[in-house]
Amino acid sequence: MSWKAKPSSTTEPASLDGLAHEDLKHQGPWCTDAMKQTWTKLVLPKYATKHGGLMPILHDLQHHYRCIPYQAMVEVAAFLEIPPAEVLDTVSFYEEFHTEPVGRCVIGICQSIACEVCGHAALEDRIRTKLDLEPHETDDEGRFTLLPLECLGSCDTAPVALFNDELLENLTMDQLETVLDQVKDIPIEQLDRERVRDIVRAQGTTQHGRSPIS
Ligand code: FES
Repeated sequence: MSWKAKPSSTTEPASLDGLAHEDLKHQGPWCTDAMKQTWTKLVLPKYATKHGGLMPILHDLQHHYRCIPYQAMVEVAAFLEIPPAEVLDTVSFYEEFHTEPVGRCVIGICQSIACEVCGHAALEDRIRTKLDLEPHETDDEGRFTLLPLECLGSCDTAPVALFNDELLENLTMDQLETVLDQVKDIPIEQLDRERVRDIVRAQGTTQHGRSPIS
């Protein structure tokens, strides 16, 4: 039996140089002075120890750069005065953190039992064919990433999918097509989290995450 490795299965080390999206070629520092000032003022006072600020700071970096590369983890560890291994443990544990850049619109399609029964496979197939994208892949332009996810805690409104932080409930094929088409129509340099959020919220019932440092 022959098989062909998908791009996402490569063992090559991640490189930002080959990416088409210019803004992801950042070489650091990843934790800027402005970020540190904001974290010091808005994040750290909420916690008894500096360590407590780790999750919101990682969310902030992920939102800002769409990835948390290893150098950024080292900088976060220095800022919080914790071992870099603790930052790495946290980044590698949670699905929302990525060491390689993801697209500006990350589609997290729930594949757990309630959504499976309610048709998640057809929705995922439509995304794969329409975007020519396999699970865990990002297109060359850096517009979309497709991520199969486990239960998103909204089984009573299955099927559901996350578009960045926006959870779209009772997702229909028409809604999915509309979101994908509208996101594709936006020039890549103008496509940001707010544009994706507005498109998704216009489609119906959504739950949305808070800003990581609000
Ligand atoms: S199974 Fe999809 S939200 Fe629970």
